[in-house]
Parts: sequence; C-alpha cells; structure tokens
Amino acid sequence: MNKTVVITGAAGFIGSHVLRLFVNNYPEYKIINLDVLTYAGNLENLRDIESKPNYQFERIDITDEEAVLSLFRKEKPSGVIHLAAESHVDRSIEDPNAFIRTNVMGTANLLNACRDIWDSWEGKRFFHVSTDEVYGSLGETGFFLEDTPYDPQSPYSASKAASDHLVRAYGNTYGMPFVLTNCSNNYGPNQFPEKLIPLFIHNIKNNKPLPVYGDGKYTRDWLYVVDHARAIDMVFHKGENGRTYNIGGFNEWQNIDLIKVLCAQMDEKLGREEGSSLELITYVKDRPGHDKRYAIDANRIKSELGWEPSVTFEQGLSKTIDWYLSNEEWLDNVTSGSYQDYYKEMYQGH
Ligand code: NAD
Ligand code: DAU
Repeated sequence: MNKTVVITGAAGFIGSHVLRLFVNNYPEYKIINLDVLTYAGNLENLRDIESKPNYQFERIDITDEEAVLSLFRKEKPSGVIHLAAESHVDRSIEDPNAFIRTNVMGTANLLNACRDIWDSWEGKRFFHVSTDEVYGSLGETGFFLEDTPYDPQSPYSASKAASDHLVRAYGNTYGMPFVLTNCSNNYGPNQFPEKLIPLFIHNIKNNKPLPVYGDGKYTRDWLYVVDHARAIDMVFHKGENGRTYNIGGFNEWQNIDLIKVLCAQMDEKLGREEGSSLELITYVKDRPGHDKRYAIDANRIKSELGWEPSVTFEQGLSKTIDWYLSNEEWLDNVTSGSYQDYYKEMYQGH
C-alpha cells in the first residue's frame, strides 16, 4: 500500500460513507478509522468492509493528545480526513463543553500530531470536514458563499467555526497543506435518529408524535450523504491547497414542507391510509437561537471540480426510508438505553 490515510469519525454517519468509498475505491491506500465510538459511532455501519485488507480500526479519543500522537508516529499517515465531532445542535445547547473539548481541542490535537510527524509538507494534506452553520443564519434570500463572514450562533457551530479557524491558522502560520469543506444538512442511511429525518421516520413507524420546533418554517438545504462522500473524495484528491469548498444539494425545504413529503412517502410504504402520519405532527417549543435559513451556493465545487449531486431529493428520501424500514435491528439497537433517557429529558414539558 502506497499511502496511509486516517479518517476520523468513520464509525459515524457521514464518516462511514466516506470510509466505504475510500476502502473500495483505493485498495492501494491503507485506511485507518480513528473513532472513540460515542453514542453516534457504530461499527455496524462498516460491517461490509471491515474485513478488507486495506482497513484498520483504532479506538482512540481525539481529545487524548498522547494516544493520537502515538498512533500518528507509528502509522505516519500522509493524509487526514477529519470528521470526528459532536454533531447535534440540540445536544450542544444542553452540554456545550463536550463540543468544545472534542471539536476544538480534538482538532488541535490532530493538527499538532500532523506537525509532529510531517518533516516536509510534500504530499501531505489535512482535510477538515465542516458545516454551513459556521456562516450563521440567512434571511429570505441569498446564499452562503465561501467568503461569507463567519457568524456562528449555537455552541455547536461556534465550536466548528473555532476548529475551521485553527486549521486555517496552521496553514497560514506553519504552511500546513489543508483543504476545508462546509456542507449543508445531510440525510441517508446510518444517521443517528436524533436528527430530523431519521427521528421522524422512527417516530412515524412507531406512531409517536413528530415534534416540529416553533412554526416549522425554518429552511435547510438537504444533501444525500453519498453525494457528500463523493464530494469529499474529489476535494481530497483534486482540491487546491488552502482552499474552501461549499457543498450543498441546491435543495432548500422549509421543515414543514419536507415533513409533509416524508409523511406521504411513509404512508405509502407502510401501506397506511393517505394523510394518517400527518396527524402525528405536534408543534413544540422552539430550539433556542434557532437559525432561520441555510442555503449553500455550491457553484465553486461544481465549476472547479465537476461535482454535482447524483440523486434527486425524492429518490434520496425514498432510498433512506427503505433503508430504515429494512434495518429495524440497527434502529432498535441505537434507540435503546441512553437514547430513551435523552428523549425523556428533551421533551419534558412539551
Ligand atoms: P456523527 O455524530 O454521526 O458521527 C460522529 C463520529 O465521530 C462518531 O462515530 C463518533 O463516535 C466520533 N467521535 C465523536 N467524538 C469523538 C472523539 N472525541 N474522538 C474520536 N471520535 C469521536 O456525525 P456526522 O453527522 O457524521 O458528522 C460528521 C462530520 O461532518 C462532523 O464534523 C460534522 O460537523 C460534519 N457535518 C455534518 C453534517 C450533517 O448534516 N450531519 C453536515 C455538514 C458537516
Ligand atoms: O447544516 C449542517 C448541519 O445540519 C450539520 O452541521 C449538523 O451536524 C446537523 O446536525 C444539521 O444541523 P440541523 O440543526 O440543521 O439539523 P437537525 O436535523 O437537528 O434539524 C433540522 C431542522 O429541523 C432544524 O430547523 C430543526 C428542526 N427540527 C429538528 C429536530 C431534531 C425539528 O423541528 N424537530 C426535531 O425534532
């Protein structure tokens, strides 16, 4: 194998799709999955590729400076694709420190480990996978561009903004080669059912209320996760050093409209009477500091690297629902134990 690439957070939702693509498409690379397996990390997500000869798993916490350094000194990766993070906005409102530790300090540890082992920058690359939430919230019109000023509004997005700044600072100060992407909302198989789409699939299936925050008129731009993984592959291999690429689905939806489409597809797939899932919609207290609208201008990655989404929203949503309905065991496993306690606390008083 001619190259070692560490992918952090590859037992999680997006990371598992990125890792699968790399392990399958690049048999000449050794791919190391560095993940501590929090509630969101699940090796079940990688069963189909875990016995491939170019795959290795290392259970390491990125906040453990020594463990990260020791792995990097041993394995000498020339590339790092960094996805490990605390990723859920509502949890960041409950416990910001976990986000500061993992997203800020953890990223700093990875950058320091790269500085330690990379004697020259030739052929090296640190890839930080970030979010459009660093740009803050949009009004009725306009799009986030790569040079939109940062204006993060939640502890989650502030921690991601801080880690983006650290990556750019290491590039500027030490010359470390890096690329950065800011992506919109992902959906697809293996997403932990705390995020809107998998939570609502799970609740519809079990005839539970669908908690719509505020008036439901918040807007997000949705992208099928496999298309995000394809974009990461392109940026890792063809992106220009020091450059940022926004990634999005050209696919804006107000939450309530998306929920109606989801309910209709679920009713059809479950053989229920048309409109029956809509009755589960329950308006609940709004998320504090809720960002009104995100919309990505993804023209840079389209024109410079030739990336475009490959599936429409209706196709992606249908594949996603089918995956959750045929992977009940996965859903049951991840929604047992601490998941129940989290939801009891979240919806107390609603
Ligand atoms: P996820 O929560 O599904 O997975 C996160 C993974 O990171 C898990 O496997 C978890 O075990 C691991 N992890 C967490 N803390 C760790 C630590 N201290 N040490 C080692 N591993 C740790 O997240 P996701 O939705 O797949 O997001 C992945 C990345 O993409 C994140 O950086 C997130 O900010 C970014 N992102 C996500 C979205 C989205 O819509 N989900 C959109 C844009 C960007
Ligand atoms: O934009 C990229 C970001 O998208 C990523 O960086 C984050 O990691 C990812 O979690 C996601 O953040 P959001 O907060 O946009 O995603 P979430 O699925 O939590 O919420 C989507 C919208 O749905 C948001 O307006 C809040 C609303 N919502 C969410 C949940 C979980 C509800 O109305 N009810 C809910 O129960």
